[in-house]
Amino acid sequence: MNIGVVDAGSKPYTFAFVANRPVKVGEYIFVDTPEGKALALVEDSIITSDVMKNAMSYESAVEGSRAASGNPRDKRYSATTRVLGLVEELRNGYSKIPSLPSIPGTEVSEADASTLSMIFAKEGWIKLGTLLRNNEVSIGVDPNKIASRHLAILAATGGGKSNLLGLIAKRIAELNGTMLILDYHGEYSDLKIDGIVHIQAKVNPRLLDAEELAGMLDIREKAERQRAVLYRAFSREVREATDFWDQLLRHLNDIANSNEDLQTRRTAERVAEIIDRALRRKGRVLDPDIKDPIDQLQPNRVNVLNMLDLTEAQADTVISYYLDRILEDRKLARMISLNREEGQAKFISPIIIAIEEAHTFLPAEDATSKTKAVAAKIAREGRKFGVSLIVVSQRPSRVDQDILSQMGSLAVLRITQPKDQNYIIESTELVSEELGKFLPSLNVGEAILLGQWVVLPSIVKIEKVPEKLMGADINAVAEWSQTARIKNMAKESTSQFIREE
Ligand SMILES: Nc1ncnc2c1ncn2[C@@H]1O[C@H](COP(=O)(O)OP(=O)(O)O)[C@@H](O)[C@H]1O
Ligand SMILES: [Mg+2]
Repeated sequence: MNIGVVDAGSKPYTFAFVANRPVKVGEYIFVDTPEGKALALVEDSIITSDVMKNAMSYESAVEGSRAASGNPRDKRYSATTRVLGLVEELRNGYSKIPSLPSIPGTEVSEADASTLSMIFAKEGWIKLGTLLRNNEVSIGVDPNKIASRHLAILAATGGGKSNLLGLIAKRIAELNGTMLILDYHGEYSDLKIDGIVHIQAKVNPRLLDAEELAGMLDIREKAERQRAVLYRAFSREVREATDFWDQLLRHLNDIANSNEDLQTRRTAERVAEIIDRALRRKGRVLDPDIKDPIDQLQPNRVNVLNMLDLTEAQADTVISYYLDRILEDRKLARMISLNREEGQAKFISPIIIAIEEAHTFLPAEDATSKTKAVAAKIAREGRKFGVSLIVVSQRPSRVDQDILSQMGSLAVLRITQPKDQNYIIESTELVSEELGKFLPSLNVGEAILLGQWVVLPSIVKIEKVPEKLMGADINAVAEWSQTARIKNMAKESTSQFIREE
Protein backbone atom coordinates (compact mmCIF):
# COMPACT_ATOMS: atom_id res chain seq x y z
CA MET A 1 0.00 0.00 0.00
CA ASN A 2 1.18 3.46 -0.94
CA ILE A 3 2.21 5.58 2.04
CA GLY A 4 4.00 8.50 0.47
CA VAL A 5 6.50 9.93 -1.98
CA VAL A 6 10.27 10.45 -1.80
CA ASP A 7 11.22 13.95 -0.63
CA ALA A 8 13.79 16.20 -2.27
CA GLY A 9 17.46 15.44 -1.58
CA SER A 10 17.46 11.62 -1.61
CA LYS A 11 20.71 9.66 -1.36
CA PRO A 12 21.49 6.04 -2.24
CA TYR A 13 21.65 4.96 1.42
CA THR A 14 19.19 7.38 2.99
CA PHE A 15 16.17 9.43 2.01
CA ALA A 16 13.18 11.16 3.51
CA PHE A 17 9.62 10.81 2.34
CA VAL A 18 6.43 12.77 2.74
CA ALA A 19 3.67 10.47 3.98
CA ASN A 20 -0.12 10.34 3.86
CA ARG A 21 -0.25 9.24 7.52
CA PRO A 22 1.96 9.36 10.62
CA VAL A 23 4.81 6.85 10.20
CA LYS A 24 6.12 4.61 12.98
CA VAL A 25 9.81 4.36 13.68
CA GLY A 26 10.84 0.79 12.89
CA GLU A 27 8.46 0.35 9.92
CA TYR A 28 9.89 -1.24 6.78
CA ILE A 29 9.08 0.28 3.40
CA PHE A 30 9.73 -0.38 -0.29
CA VAL A 31 10.88 2.21 -2.76
CA ASP A 32 11.84 1.96 -6.42
CA THR A 33 15.36 2.94 -7.41
CA PRO A 34 16.85 3.00 -10.90
CA GLU A 35 18.43 -0.39 -10.01
CA GLY A 36 15.27 -2.07 -8.74
CA LYS A 37 13.09 -2.18 -5.67
CA ALA A 38 14.86 -1.41 -2.38
CA LEU A 39 13.96 -2.03 1.26
CA ALA A 40 14.36 0.78 3.79
CA LEU A 41 13.88 1.16 7.53
CA VAL A 42 12.16 4.17 9.09
CA GLU A 43 14.62 5.63 11.59
CA ASP A 44 12.88 8.88 12.45
CA SER A 45 9.41 10.28 12.04
CA ILE A 46 8.39 13.95 12.05
CA ILE A 47 5.03 15.74 12.01
CA THR A 48 5.04 19.48 11.35
CA SER A 49 2.21 21.99 11.23
CA ASP A 50 2.30 25.32 9.40
CA VAL A 51 -0.29 26.84 11.67
CA MET A 52 1.54 25.84 14.83
CA LYS A 53 4.86 26.95 13.45
CA ASN A 54 3.52 30.43 12.85
CA ALA A 55 1.66 30.77 16.14
CA MET A 56 3.25 33.64 18.04
CA SER A 57 1.35 33.17 21.32
CA TYR A 58 -0.54 30.54 23.27
CA GLU A 59 -3.86 32.09 22.22
CA SER A 60 -3.05 32.06 18.53
CA ALA A 61 -1.74 28.47 18.88
CA VAL A 62 -5.07 27.32 20.37
CA GLU A 63 -7.08 29.20 17.75
CA GLY A 64 -4.84 27.98 14.98
CA SER A 65 -5.05 24.36 16.07
CA ARG A 66 -8.85 24.58 16.09
CA ALA A 67 -8.93 26.09 12.63
CA ALA A 68 -6.38 23.57 11.35
CA SER A 69 -8.10 20.50 12.79
CA GLY A 70 -10.36 20.23 9.74
CA ASN A 71 -7.62 21.05 7.25
CA PRO A 72 -5.62 18.05 6.01
CA ARG A 73 -3.11 20.36 4.33
CA ASP A 74 -1.87 21.78 7.61
CA LYS A 75 -0.02 18.69 8.89
CA ARG A 76 3.02 17.37 7.16
CA TYR A 77 4.00 13.77 7.98
CA SER A 78 7.48 12.82 7.01
CA ALA A 79 10.05 10.20 7.88
CA THR A 80 13.75 9.61 7.36
CA THR A 81 14.93 6.18 6.35
CA ARG A 82 17.99 4.04 6.02
CA VAL A 83 18.17 2.02 2.78
CA LEU A 84 18.94 -1.60 3.70
CA GLY A 85 19.46 -3.02 0.24
CA LEU A 86 17.87 -4.11 -3.01
CA VAL A 87 15.02 -6.55 -2.42
CA GLU A 88 16.18 -9.09 -5.00
CA GLU A 89 19.60 -9.47 -3.32
CA LEU A 90 18.11 -9.48 0.18
CA ARG A 91 15.93 -12.45 -0.75
CA ASN A 92 19.16 -14.23 -1.61
CA GLY A 93 20.61 -13.45 1.78
CA TYR A 94 22.88 -10.50 1.21
CA SER A 95 22.59 -6.75 1.16
CA LYS A 96 23.48 -4.61 -1.82
CA ILE A 97 22.94 -0.88 -1.45
CA PRO A 98 21.91 0.73 -4.76
CA SER A 99 24.46 3.10 -6.24
CA LEU A 100 21.79 5.57 -7.39
CA PRO A 101 19.20 7.26 -5.17
CA SER A 102 15.44 7.11 -5.74
CA ILE A 103 14.11 10.01 -7.77
CA PRO A 104 12.25 12.51 -5.56
CA GLY A 105 8.53 12.01 -6.07
CA THR A 106 8.86 8.22 -6.42
CA GLU A 107 6.12 6.31 -4.63
CA VAL A 108 6.91 4.72 -1.26
CA SER A 109 4.88 1.68 -0.17
CA GLU A 110 4.50 -0.48 2.95
CA ALA A 111 6.61 -3.62 2.74
CA ASP A 112 4.36 -6.68 2.49
CA ALA A 113 4.53 -9.50 5.02
CA SER A 114 5.31 -12.29 2.57
CA THR A 115 8.37 -10.56 1.10
CA LEU A 116 9.57 -9.57 4.57
CA SER A 117 9.14 -13.15 5.79
CA MET A 118 11.35 -14.36 2.98
CA ILE A 119 14.00 -11.79 3.86
CA PHE A 120 13.97 -12.14 7.65
CA ALA A 121 13.84 -15.88 8.21
CA LYS A 122 16.01 -18.33 6.32
CA GLU A 123 16.00 -22.09 6.18
CA GLY A 124 17.79 -23.50 9.22
CA TRP A 125 17.68 -20.29 11.23
CA ILE A 126 16.31 -20.14 14.75
CA LYS A 127 13.23 -18.08 15.55
CA LEU A 128 13.57 -15.38 18.20
CA GLY A 129 10.39 -13.36 17.69
CA THR A 130 8.47 -11.25 15.22
CA LEU A 131 9.00 -7.86 13.61
CA LEU A 132 7.96 -5.21 16.11
CA ARG A 133 5.80 -3.34 13.57
CA ASN A 134 4.52 -6.42 11.77
CA ASN A 135 3.86 -9.44 13.94
CA GLU A 136 3.03 -11.67 10.98
CA VAL A 137 6.71 -11.68 10.10
CA SER A 138 8.91 -14.13 12.03
CA ILE A 139 12.47 -13.18 12.74
CA GLY A 140 15.20 -15.75 12.43
CA VAL A 141 18.88 -15.55 13.27
CA ASP A 142 21.73 -17.68 12.01
CA PRO A 143 22.84 -20.09 14.78
CA ASN A 144 26.11 -20.75 12.96
CA LYS A 145 27.03 -17.12 13.42
CA ILE A 146 26.27 -17.24 17.14
CA ALA A 147 28.62 -20.20 17.36
CA SER A 148 31.44 -18.52 15.44
CA ARG A 149 31.25 -14.73 15.54
CA HIS A 150 30.41 -13.82 19.17
CA LEU A 151 27.32 -11.94 20.32
CA ALA A 152 26.68 -9.09 22.75
CA ILE A 153 23.31 -8.70 24.48
CA LEU A 154 23.05 -5.20 25.92
CA ALA A 155 20.19 -3.49 27.74
CA ALA A 156 19.28 -1.64 30.89
CA THR A 157 18.25 -3.77 33.86
CA GLY A 158 14.87 -5.34 33.22
CA GLY A 159 15.15 -4.84 29.47
CA GLY A 160 14.86 -8.55 28.74
CA LYS A 161 18.48 -9.76 28.39
CA SER A 162 18.11 -12.90 30.47
CA ASN A 163 14.87 -13.79 28.72
CA LEU A 164 16.64 -13.49 25.36
CA LEU A 165 19.60 -15.57 26.54
CA GLY A 166 17.16 -18.19 27.88
CA LEU A 167 15.41 -18.25 24.49
CA ILE A 168 18.69 -18.64 22.61
CA ALA A 169 19.67 -21.47 24.98
CA LYS A 170 16.36 -23.18 24.31
CA ARG A 171 16.82 -22.93 20.56
CA ILE A 172 20.43 -24.14 20.74
CA ALA A 173 19.21 -27.12 22.80
CA GLU A 174 16.69 -27.92 20.06
CA LEU A 175 19.65 -28.17 17.69
CA ASN A 176 21.59 -30.40 20.12
CA GLY A 177 24.11 -27.60 20.42
CA THR A 178 26.59 -27.15 23.26
CA MET A 179 26.33 -24.12 25.47
CA LEU A 180 27.63 -23.03 28.85
CA ILE A 181 25.89 -20.25 30.78
CA LEU A 182 28.07 -18.70 33.50
CA ASP A 183 25.27 -17.78 35.86
CA TYR A 184 26.64 -15.44 38.54
CA HIS A 185 23.24 -14.62 40.07
CA GLY A 186 21.72 -18.09 39.85
CA GLU A 187 19.07 -16.70 37.49
CA TYR A 188 18.87 -19.75 35.26
CA SER A 189 18.56 -22.39 37.95
CA ASP A 190 14.90 -22.99 37.12
CA LEU A 191 15.16 -22.65 33.37
CA LYS A 192 13.50 -25.73 31.96
CA ILE A 193 15.03 -26.97 28.76
CA ASP A 194 15.17 -30.58 27.61
CA GLY A 195 18.40 -32.14 28.78
CA ILE A 196 19.65 -29.02 30.58
CA VAL A 197 22.58 -29.71 32.91
CA HIS A 198 22.73 -27.73 36.17
CA ILE A 199 26.11 -27.59 37.87
CA GLN A 200 27.19 -26.00 41.13
CA ALA A 201 30.44 -24.16 40.57
CA LYS A 202 33.26 -26.06 42.25
CA VAL A 203 36.97 -25.62 42.17
CA ASN A 204 39.58 -28.21 42.92
CA PRO A 205 42.10 -26.45 45.20
CA ARG A 206 44.85 -28.83 44.04
CA LEU A 207 44.65 -27.24 40.60
CA LEU A 208 45.12 -23.69 41.90
CA ASP A 209 48.34 -21.87 42.44
CA ALA A 210 48.97 -20.48 45.92
CA GLU A 211 47.81 -17.00 45.02
CA GLU A 212 44.57 -18.29 43.56
CA LEU A 213 43.95 -20.41 46.64
CA ALA A 214 44.43 -17.36 48.85
CA GLY A 215 41.94 -15.48 46.68
CA MET A 216 39.41 -18.31 46.87
CA LEU A 217 39.73 -18.28 50.68
CA ASP A 218 39.08 -14.55 50.64
CA ILE A 219 42.48 -13.73 52.11
CA ARG A 220 43.03 -10.23 50.84
CA GLU A 221 46.09 -9.23 48.88
CA LYS A 222 47.05 -6.77 51.60
CA ALA A 223 47.12 -9.55 54.20
CA GLU A 224 50.70 -10.32 53.22
CA ARG A 225 51.64 -12.31 56.32
CA GLN A 226 48.63 -14.59 56.03
CA ARG A 227 49.34 -15.14 52.38
CA ALA A 228 53.01 -15.90 53.07
CA VAL A 229 52.12 -18.51 55.70
CA LEU A 230 49.52 -20.09 53.39
CA TYR A 231 52.06 -20.27 50.56
CA ARG A 232 54.48 -22.11 52.84
CA ALA A 233 51.88 -24.59 54.04
CA PHE A 234 50.45 -25.26 50.59
CA SER A 235 53.30 -27.55 49.61
CA ARG A 236 53.55 -30.08 46.85
CA GLU A 237 53.01 -32.84 49.41
CA VAL A 238 49.72 -31.23 50.49
CA ARG A 239 48.64 -30.79 46.90
CA GLU A 240 49.06 -34.50 46.25
CA ALA A 241 47.75 -35.81 49.58
CA THR A 242 44.48 -37.75 49.55
CA ASP A 243 43.36 -35.93 52.71
CA PHE A 244 44.09 -32.51 51.28
CA TRP A 245 42.53 -30.26 53.95
CA ASP A 246 43.83 -32.31 56.88
CA GLN A 247 47.31 -32.12 55.48
CA LEU A 248 47.07 -28.40 54.83
CA LEU A 249 45.78 -27.79 58.36
CA ARG A 250 48.50 -30.06 59.78
CA HIS A 251 51.16 -27.99 58.04
CA LEU A 252 49.65 -24.82 59.46
CA ASN A 253 49.52 -26.40 62.92
CA ASP A 254 53.16 -27.35 62.63
CA ILE A 255 54.00 -23.72 61.98
CA ALA A 256 51.72 -22.60 64.84
CA ASN A 257 53.47 -24.97 67.25
CA SER A 258 56.99 -24.43 66.01
CA ASN A 259 59.57 -22.28 67.72
CA GLU A 260 59.22 -19.52 65.15
CA ASP A 261 58.41 -15.97 66.18
CA LEU A 262 55.09 -15.33 67.88
CA GLN A 263 53.61 -13.35 65.04
CA THR A 264 54.18 -16.10 62.49
CA ARG A 265 52.69 -18.67 64.86
CA ARG A 266 49.62 -16.52 65.48
CA THR A 267 49.21 -15.91 61.75
CA ALA A 268 49.30 -19.65 61.08
CA GLU A 269 46.53 -20.14 63.66
CA ARG A 270 44.51 -17.42 62.01
CA VAL A 271 44.87 -18.96 58.54
CA ALA A 272 43.84 -22.34 59.95
CA GLU A 273 40.71 -20.67 61.33
CA ILE A 274 39.94 -19.12 57.96
CA ILE A 275 40.18 -22.54 56.34
CA ASP A 276 38.02 -24.11 59.05
CA ARG A 277 35.38 -21.51 58.47
CA ALA A 278 35.47 -22.00 54.70
CA LEU A 279 35.06 -25.75 55.20
CA ARG A 280 32.01 -25.31 57.42
CA ARG A 281 30.22 -23.12 54.91
CA LYS A 282 27.34 -24.76 53.09
CA GLY A 283 27.55 -25.12 49.32
CA ARG A 284 31.30 -25.33 49.60
CA VAL A 285 33.08 -24.19 46.48
CA LEU A 286 36.52 -25.72 47.09
CA ASP A 287 36.47 -29.46 46.64
CA PRO A 288 39.72 -31.45 46.44
CA ASP A 289 37.87 -34.60 45.43
CA ILE A 290 36.32 -33.43 42.19
CA LYS A 291 38.18 -34.27 39.07
CA ASP A 292 38.67 -31.68 36.40
CA PRO A 293 35.62 -29.38 36.76
CA ILE A 294 35.04 -29.41 33.04
CA ASP A 295 34.25 -33.12 33.36
CA GLN A 296 30.89 -32.03 34.78
CA LEU A 297 29.98 -30.27 31.56
CA GLN A 298 28.21 -32.22 28.85
CA PRO A 299 28.62 -31.76 25.13
CA ASN A 300 25.44 -31.30 23.03
CA ARG A 301 23.63 -29.89 26.05
CA VAL A 302 22.93 -26.53 27.62
CA ASN A 303 25.02 -26.38 30.81
CA VAL A 304 24.30 -23.83 33.53
CA LEU A 305 27.08 -23.15 36.00
CA ASN A 306 25.46 -21.77 39.14
CA MET A 307 27.79 -19.35 40.95
CA LEU A 308 25.34 -17.91 43.46
CA ASP A 309 27.53 -19.04 46.39
CA LEU A 310 30.65 -17.39 45.03
CA THR A 311 32.14 -14.01 45.78
CA GLU A 312 33.12 -11.83 42.84
CA ALA A 313 36.78 -12.77 43.18
CA GLN A 314 35.97 -16.46 43.38
CA ALA A 315 33.70 -16.22 40.35
CA ASP A 316 36.49 -14.48 38.44
CA THR A 317 38.84 -17.39 39.19
CA VAL A 318 36.20 -19.97 38.28
CA ILE A 319 35.12 -18.29 35.04
CA SER A 320 38.68 -17.72 33.84
CA TYR A 321 39.48 -21.32 34.64
CA TYR A 322 36.55 -22.68 32.63
CA LEU A 323 37.25 -20.37 29.69
CA ASP A 324 40.88 -21.34 29.61
CA ARG A 325 40.23 -25.08 29.86
CA ILE A 326 37.53 -25.01 27.19
CA LEU A 327 39.71 -23.05 24.77
CA GLU A 328 42.60 -25.49 25.34
CA ASP A 329 40.25 -28.43 24.85
CA ARG A 330 38.94 -27.08 21.56
CA LYS A 331 42.49 -26.45 20.38
CA LEU A 332 43.31 -30.05 21.21
CA ALA A 333 40.19 -31.22 19.34
CA ARG A 334 41.36 -29.25 16.35
CA MET A 335 44.86 -30.74 16.45
CA ILE A 336 43.44 -34.25 16.79
CA SER A 337 41.15 -33.73 13.80
CA LEU A 338 44.17 -32.59 11.80
CA ASN A 339 46.06 -35.72 12.92
CA ARG A 340 48.68 -33.52 14.53
CA GLU A 341 48.11 -34.76 18.03
CA GLU A 342 46.79 -37.83 19.78
CA GLY A 343 44.45 -38.01 22.71
CA GLN A 344 40.84 -37.25 23.43
CA ALA A 345 39.09 -33.92 23.59
CA LYS A 346 35.99 -33.29 25.64
CA PHE A 347 34.26 -31.02 23.15
CA ILE A 348 34.60 -32.36 19.65
CA SER A 349 32.12 -29.81 18.27
CA PRO A 350 31.76 -26.04 18.84
CA ILE A 351 30.66 -24.55 22.14
CA ILE A 352 29.00 -21.24 22.98
CA ILE A 353 29.85 -19.64 26.32
CA ALA A 354 27.58 -16.96 27.79
CA ILE A 355 28.95 -14.53 30.38
CA GLU A 356 26.31 -12.67 32.41
CA GLU A 357 27.30 -9.48 34.25
CA ALA A 358 30.07 -8.85 31.74
CA HIS A 359 30.78 -5.39 33.21
CA THR A 360 31.93 -7.19 36.36
CA PHE A 361 34.09 -9.86 34.74
CA LEU A 362 35.22 -8.02 31.60
CA PRO A 363 35.61 -4.52 33.06
CA ALA A 364 36.87 -1.64 30.95
CA GLU A 365 39.32 -0.44 33.57
CA ASP A 366 40.41 -3.13 36.01
CA ALA A 367 43.47 -4.87 34.61
CA THR A 368 43.54 -7.53 37.35
CA SER A 369 40.49 -9.39 36.03
CA LYS A 370 41.65 -12.86 35.06
CA THR A 371 38.56 -13.54 33.03
CA LYS A 372 39.22 -10.54 30.85
CA ALA A 373 42.58 -11.81 29.63
CA VAL A 374 41.30 -15.18 28.49
CA ALA A 375 37.99 -13.81 27.18
CA ALA A 376 39.96 -11.36 25.04
CA LYS A 377 41.89 -14.31 23.65
CA ILE A 378 38.67 -16.16 22.83
CA ALA A 379 37.17 -13.01 21.31
CA ARG A 380 40.21 -12.76 19.01
CA GLU A 381 40.92 -16.35 18.08
CA GLY A 382 37.99 -18.44 19.38
CA ARG A 383 36.47 -18.45 15.93
CA LYS A 384 39.21 -20.67 14.55
CA PHE A 385 38.52 -23.28 17.21
CA GLY A 386 34.74 -23.11 17.50
CA VAL A 387 34.56 -21.33 20.86
CA SER A 388 32.29 -18.32 20.90
CA LEU A 389 31.16 -15.84 23.51
CA ILE A 390 27.84 -14.29 24.37
CA VAL A 391 28.55 -11.21 26.45
CA VAL A 392 25.60 -9.93 28.50
CA SER A 393 25.61 -6.59 30.32
CA GLN A 394 23.40 -3.82 31.66
CA ARG A 395 26.31 -1.37 31.84
CA PRO A 396 27.87 -1.54 28.38
CA SER A 397 30.00 1.53 29.07
CA ARG A 398 31.86 -0.44 31.76
CA VAL A 399 32.63 -3.41 29.52
CA ASP A 400 36.05 -3.65 27.93
CA GLN A 401 35.87 -1.91 24.57
CA ASP A 402 38.27 -4.24 22.78
CA ILE A 403 36.14 -7.23 23.63
CA LEU A 404 32.91 -5.45 22.65
CA SER A 405 34.40 -4.46 19.32
CA GLN A 406 35.09 -8.13 18.53
CA MET A 407 31.42 -9.04 18.83
CA GLY A 408 30.18 -9.83 15.33
CA SER A 409 26.52 -9.72 16.31
CA LEU A 410 24.53 -7.54 18.63
CA ALA A 411 21.16 -7.55 20.34
CA VAL A 412 20.42 -4.18 21.88
CA LEU A 413 17.30 -3.84 23.94
CA ARG A 414 16.15 -0.79 25.89
CA ILE A 415 19.09 1.44 26.85
CA THR A 416 18.33 4.52 28.87
CA GLN A 417 21.72 5.98 29.85
CA PRO A 418 23.14 8.32 27.18
CA LYS A 419 26.63 7.22 28.28
CA ASP A 420 25.83 3.60 27.41
CA GLN A 421 24.23 4.59 24.10
CA ASN A 422 27.26 6.58 23.05
CA TYR A 423 29.63 3.84 24.12
CA ILE A 424 27.78 1.29 21.99
CA ILE A 425 27.83 3.62 18.99
CA GLU A 426 31.59 4.14 19.50
CA SER A 427 32.44 0.49 20.15
CA THR A 428 30.78 -1.14 17.21
CA GLU A 429 30.24 0.07 13.71
CA LEU A 430 26.95 -1.80 13.73
CA VAL A 431 24.94 0.89 15.50
CA SER A 432 24.40 4.16 13.65
CA GLU A 433 23.67 7.36 15.52
CA GLU A 434 20.06 7.27 14.32
CA LEU A 435 19.57 3.76 15.68
CA GLY A 436 21.28 4.87 18.91
CA LYS A 437 18.67 7.59 19.38
CA PHE A 438 15.99 4.98 18.97
CA LEU A 439 17.16 2.83 21.89
CA PRO A 440 15.44 4.63 24.81
CA SER A 441 12.05 4.26 23.09
CA LEU A 442 12.17 0.46 23.12
CA ASN A 443 9.96 -1.37 25.62
CA VAL A 444 10.79 -4.53 27.59
CA GLY A 445 11.53 -7.41 25.24
CA GLU A 446 11.91 -5.18 22.17
CA ALA A 447 15.30 -5.39 20.52
CA ILE A 448 17.38 -4.27 17.59
CA LEU A 449 19.30 -7.21 16.15
CA LEU A 450 22.38 -6.30 14.17
CA GLY A 451 25.46 -7.80 12.59
CA GLN A 452 26.45 -11.18 11.25
CA TRP A 453 23.59 -13.26 12.62
CA VAL A 454 20.93 -11.33 10.68
CA VAL A 455 20.71 -10.30 7.03
CA LEU A 456 19.49 -6.87 8.05
CA PRO A 457 19.11 -4.68 11.11
CA SER A 458 15.87 -6.02 12.54
CA ILE A 459 13.61 -4.36 15.08
CA VAL A 460 11.99 -7.19 16.90
CA LYS A 461 9.63 -8.21 19.66
CA ILE A 462 11.48 -11.06 21.35
CA GLU A 463 9.42 -14.09 22.30
CA LYS A 464 8.92 -14.57 26.01
CA VAL A 465 10.35 -17.82 27.32
CA PRO A 466 7.39 -19.49 28.98
CA GLU A 467 9.60 -21.70 31.15
CA LYS A 468 9.88 -19.73 34.34
CA LEU A 469 12.98 -17.60 34.59
CA MET A 470 14.04 -15.93 37.78
CA GLY A 471 14.92 -12.26 37.60
CA ALA A 472 11.35 -11.02 37.47
CA ASP A 473 10.81 -8.12 39.83
CA ILE A 474 10.27 -9.12 43.43
CA ASN A 475 6.68 -8.74 44.59
CA ALA A 476 7.53 -7.15 47.94
CA VAL A 477 3.93 -6.32 48.87
CA ALA A 478 2.83 -9.94 48.49
CA GLU A 479 5.84 -11.21 50.41
CA TRP A 480 5.30 -8.75 53.27
CA SER A 481 1.68 -9.69 53.59
CA GLN A 482 2.57 -13.37 53.58
CA THR A 483 5.27 -13.07 56.24
CA ALA A 484 3.01 -10.90 58.37
CA ARG A 485 0.32 -13.59 58.19
CA ILE A 486 2.76 -16.27 59.26
CA LYS A 487 3.93 -14.12 62.15
CA ASN A 488 0.37 -13.47 63.27
CA MET A 489 -0.43 -17.14 63.11
CA ALA A 490 2.61 -17.86 65.25
CA LYS A 491 1.58 -15.20 67.75
CA GLU A 492 -1.94 -16.55 67.99
CA SER A 493 -0.78 -20.08 68.60
CA THR A 494 1.68 -18.96 71.31
CA SER A 495 -0.94 -16.86 73.09
CA GLN A 496 -3.24 -19.85 72.99
CA PHE A 497 -0.45 -21.91 74.46
CA ILE A 498 0.05 -19.37 77.25
CA ARG A 499 -3.68 -19.31 78.04
CA GLU A 500 -3.78 -23.07 78.27
CA GLU A 501 -0.99 -22.98 80.79
N1 LIG B 1 10.36 -10.58 25.32
C1 LIG B 1 9.67 -10.39 26.44
N2 LIG B 1 8.32 -10.35 26.42
C2 LIG B 1 7.63 -10.15 27.56
N3 LIG B 1 8.18 -10.00 28.78
C3 LIG B 1 9.52 -10.03 28.87
C4 LIG B 1 10.33 -10.23 27.70
N4 LIG B 1 11.62 -10.21 28.09
C5 LIG B 1 11.62 -10.03 29.42
N5 LIG B 1 10.37 -9.92 29.89
C6 LIG B 1 10.00 -9.72 31.31
O1 LIG B 1 10.69 -8.58 31.81
C7 LIG B 1 11.29 -8.84 33.07
C8 LIG B 1 12.79 -8.62 33.03
O2 LIG B 1 13.36 -9.51 32.09
P1 LIG B 1 14.87 -10.03 32.21
O3 LIG B 1 15.08 -10.89 31.02
O4 LIG B 1 15.12 -10.64 33.54
O5 LIG B 1 15.65 -8.65 32.07
P2 LIG B 1 17.22 -8.35 32.28
O6 LIG B 1 17.95 -9.65 32.27
O7 LIG B 1 17.57 -7.47 31.13
O8 LIG B 1 17.33 -7.61 33.58
C9 LIG B 1 10.89 -10.27 33.43
O9 LIG B 1 9.79 -10.23 34.30
C10 LIG B 1 10.52 -10.90 32.12
O10 LIG B 1 9.55 -11.89 32.29
MG1 LIG C 1 19.26 -10.49 33.69
